[in-house]
Amino acid sequence: MKKLLSFLLILMVATTTVFASGTSEDSDVKKIGVSMPTKSLQRWNQDGSNMKEKLEAAGYKVDLQYAGDNDIPTQVNQVENMIMSNCDAIIIAAIDGSALTEVLKEAKEKDIPVISYDRLIMNSDAVSYYATFDNFGVGVIQGEYLRDAMDLDNRTEPVYMEFFTGAPDDNNCVYFWGGAMSILKPYLDNGTIICKSGQTDRGQCSTPNWSTEEAQKRMENLITSNGYGPNGQRLDAVLSSNDSCAQGITNALVEAGYTKDNFPYLTGQDCDITSVKNMIAGTQSMSVFKDTRTLAEKVVSMVDALMKGSEPEINDRETYDNGTGIIPSFLCTPVYGSADNYQELLIDSGYYTPDQLGL
Ligand code: BGC
Repeated sequence: MKKLLSFLLILMVATTTVFASGTSEDSDVKKIGVSMPTKSLQRWNQDGSNMKEKLEAAGYKVDLQYAGDNDIPTQVNQVENMIMSNCDAIIIAAIDGSALTEVLKEAKEKDIPVISYDRLIMNSDAVSYYATFDNFGVGVIQGEYLRDAMDLDNRTEPVYMEFFTGAPDDNNCVYFWGGAMSILKPYLDNGTIICKSGQTDRGQCSTPNWSTEEAQKRMENLITSNGYGPNGQRLDAVLSSNDSCAQGITNALVEAGYTKDNFPYLTGQDCDITSVKNMIAGTQSMSVFKDTRTLAEKVVSMVDALMKGSEPEINDRETYDNGTGIIPSFLCTPVYGSADNYQELLIDSGYYTPDQLGL
């Protein structure tokens, strides 16, 4: 009987120890909030799932939320919940860079580090780090492409061109636009580029929410009001800051009768599946590839460093001031993409399968 009792006692102690250590191990697992702007654009779905996968593989719990289709109050609520549920760090790709100031005060009070993902969160001193691509560099790649494709330095006749950029509340546009204009503006100034609509300000050329439909509508209006068409007023090129806008522009140009044989030069960014198909079909000229796998990896290593109390790797301490001071940043490198290099860039690298591109 004594033996049995002491056996039971040992069993009880052992069981309690196992359960107790199980519980304490669970509560040691850190939780990372990931807030993405929309489900409706391919790139953010990719970014979100890449990050979830990589964070989980690194041993973190992940609370991944999408703010419907770019719904600002939803994003604010989701971030608030992440703060209230004591996430250990929060990664945010903001819809409106200036809409999170209030809610992030709570993060700052609770000492929760915030990483601004791809787009800079403005006017908040709660932002600890920024991870993105060289956004000015994206615009430079687009501008240089157009300059070289139309040989702007040596031509004797002017070219006709229209301009599109993205959401006015996305700080990235300042850089995409600035980079492209750093190359193209001198040619506008000396008359080599003619913009018939006269719309050459970033504000006039912006596209709410980077919407394909909005870009299409604006291109349709430009076609009608300036008489552009294969048999009308010449249109040599359209600058578009990204692919979702380029796709709307392509739709409008195809409607107006342009084909792959006389299609105006058209830029983009992201190498979205639809745009890669358009490039192969000759209805978009180029895009800029931003390997979101690299960005996700960078952010996961930033989080990991922060959680272990060390300094994340930074390669830029001067470019991005969010209104409260410079935010230490890591900038990944954007790369030119087109129908000429998509095979090695996108397929050989495992980013897309030939199937996804309809090949
Ligand atoms: C991103 C682009 C994207 C755009 C629209 C920008 O902030 O940097 O890659 O095309 O948002 O989602």
